[in-house]
Amino acid sequence: MKKNQCQKSCLPDNLETIAKGIIHEIRNPLNAVYAHVQLLEEEIGEEKENLYSSLMQIKVGISQIDGILREFGRFVRQTKPILRKENLNSLLNDVLRFVDAECRSYEIKVIKQFQDDLPEILVDANQIKQVMLNLILNANQAMLNGGTLTITTFLMQGKGKEKKDCVCIEVQDTGIGISEEQTTRIFDLFYSTKPSGTGLGLPIVQKTVHDHDGKIEIDSQPGKGTRVRVVLSAGR
Ligand SMILES: Nc1ncnc2c1ncn2[C@@H]1O[C@H](COP(=O)(O)OP(=O)(O)O)[C@@H](O)[C@H]1O
Ligand SMILES: [Mg+2]
Repeated sequence: MKKNQCQKSCLPDNLETIAKGIIHEIRNPLNAVYAHVQLLEEEIGEEKENLYSSLMQIKVGISQIDGILREFGRFVRQTKPILRKENLNSLLNDVLRFVDAECRSYEIKVIKQFQDDLPEILVDANQIKQVMLNLILNANQAMLNGGTLTITTFLMQGKGKEKKDCVCIEVQDTGIGISEEQTTRIFDLFYSTKPSGTGLGLPIVQKTVHDHDGKIEIDSQPGKGTRVRVVLSAGR
C-alpha cells in the first residue's frame, strides 16, 4: 500500500482503542441519564419553575459532554489523508458557502483575496475543508460583535536549497486576539477559553496539516485580531 493512501489512523493502535472504549463507556450511561432527565421533565412540568430550570441545565450539560465525546471520537478516528489534486480556492469557496449564514448573522464582512492561478496540489479534500472550517469558525467566534474575515490564498515561491513552492491559506480576523500566555496552549488537547468550546479544533487542524507535511503559523495581537497561515507544499 502506498504511504499516503494508508487508511490507518495516525494514533498508536492501543491509544486509539482505549480512546474509543472510553468514549463508548461514557456515552452509554450518558444516554441513560438523558432518558431519565426526559422522564423527570415530563413528570415535573413547567409549573415547578426551579426544578424545571435545573433539569434544563442538566440537559445542556449532557449535550455539551456528548458534543465533546463526538468530536474527540472524530479526532481519534482520523485517517491518513487520501491525496488527490485539488484547487484550494474551490475548497475554500465550498466552506465559505457553508458558513455564509453564520457570517451574516454575526455581521462579519467576508473578504476573499484568492490568487487566480493557484496550482492544484495533492490534499485530502475533506480533511483540508475541515481545517478551513475550524479556522473560520474560530475566527468568527473571536468576532462576536462583528468584524472582518479575510481569506487569502497565494503561491509562495520556494527559497533556500530545496526551492519547493508552497501554497498558503491565510484566515485573518479582526477579533479579540490571543494573549502570549494563551498562544503556548492553544494546540493543547481540550484547551478552550470558550464557555462551550471543546478545545479540539486546533489539535485536529495541527494534526491534519502535519499529516499533509505542511505547517501552521499563528500571528495574533490581543484586542486587534489573529492571522492563521497554513502552508502546504505545492510540489508533492
Ligand atoms: N482566531 C482566534 N482568535 C482568538 N482566539 C482563538 C482563535 N483561534 C483559536 N483561539 C483560541 O484557541 C482556543 C482553542 O481553539 P480550538 O482548539 O479551536 O477550541 P475551541 O474553539 O473549542 O475553544 C480557543 O478557545 C481560543 O482561546
Ligand atoms: Mg474551535
